[in-house]
Amino acid sequence: MRTLTGITPSGTLHLGNYFGAMRPAIEAQAGGDCYYFIADYHSMTALFDPAERRRYTYGVALDWLACGLDPAKSVFWRQSDVPEVCELTWLLGSLTPMGLLERAHSYKDKTAKGLSPNFGLFAYPVLMAADILLYDTQVVPVGQDQKQHLEMTRDIAIKFNQTYGETLVVPEPRIREEVAIVPGVDGQKMSKSYGNTLELFAEEKALRKRIMGIVMDSRSPQEPKPDAERNLCIQLLKLVAPPAVAADFEARLRAGGLGYGDLKKALFEHVWTYFAPARARRAELAAQPDYVETVLRDGAIRARAVAADVIRRARTACGIA
Ligand code: TRP
Repeated sequence: MRTLTGITPSGTLHLGNYFGAMRPAIEAQAGGDCYYFIADYHSMTALFDPAERRRYTYGVALDWLACGLDPAKSVFWRQSDVPEVCELTWLLGSLTPMGLLERAHSYKDKTAKGLSPNFGLFAYPVLMAADILLYDTQVVPVGQDQKQHLEMTRDIAIKFNQTYGETLVVPEPRIREEVAIVPGVDGQKMSKSYGNTLELFAEEKALRKRIMGIVMDSRSPQEPKPDAERNLCIQLLKLVAPPAVAADFEARLRAGGLGYGDLKKALFEHVWTYFAPARARRAELAAQPDYVETVLRDGAIRARAVAADVIRRARTACGIA
């Protein structure tokens, strides 16, 4: 079963990205036939600094490789290394109703915030449909925020098949349940846009400072805390510490006698230890000058072999071949 997902090349990854999207994607590799790519074309609708785009693309690829994306098991490439995706965008866009794109939440949200939209932002869902359809994808695991984009992909594929004959595989969405709710340092959902993240690969000092700065309530250490399971540090600790350790901290907090400072210290230690192997691997990979580039180029060769077949089918179906 072919599974595909796109990774937005945005700044630095945080624990929310890791537990929400990365870990499930990395675990899914065991089942085989996973296609993962860095959506650098998509980044063009909102980011206009070429050096920054390159840095983000490289950085996010390095992060995923360090966290266990295995190029021997999965196909991992950079979207723009398979430019056929732009051609398919045109073939699809030419039968995508304007009304469909006008209803896109992501587009409406951005324009509502006063962002002056470009054609790329408007066409974003068509490029995303092309990403998916170009590889005969069957399943697309994404977060809730991408659900509408996937429905659009299905609508576009169905319309193409009705217009030009059965050509494209209509994919199934797999909307990730919020298995792991990852709260940010302010208790809201961890998100870059809230500025409440804990970064995966932060420097030790900065991470420690960030965690020690988490604001708790003013109850004294001795006071029992019957709501211990709702404590932010306990929730985070459950993600990164062995279950028995997290349960012990929770029990001690509940009973009274555990101070917030000690709890935060423990949280820091466990976050640091949890990501230590990935951090070491990241340093190792970063020290090899062309490693990331070579992986992405090899991946693109494999991805392109599939894309070439689909684009040929699509062109023939449309009568432009
Ligand atoms: N739009 C997706 C996001 O912001 C990223 C993405 C681009 C994607 N192309 C895709 C996801 C294709 C799944 C399939 O997260």
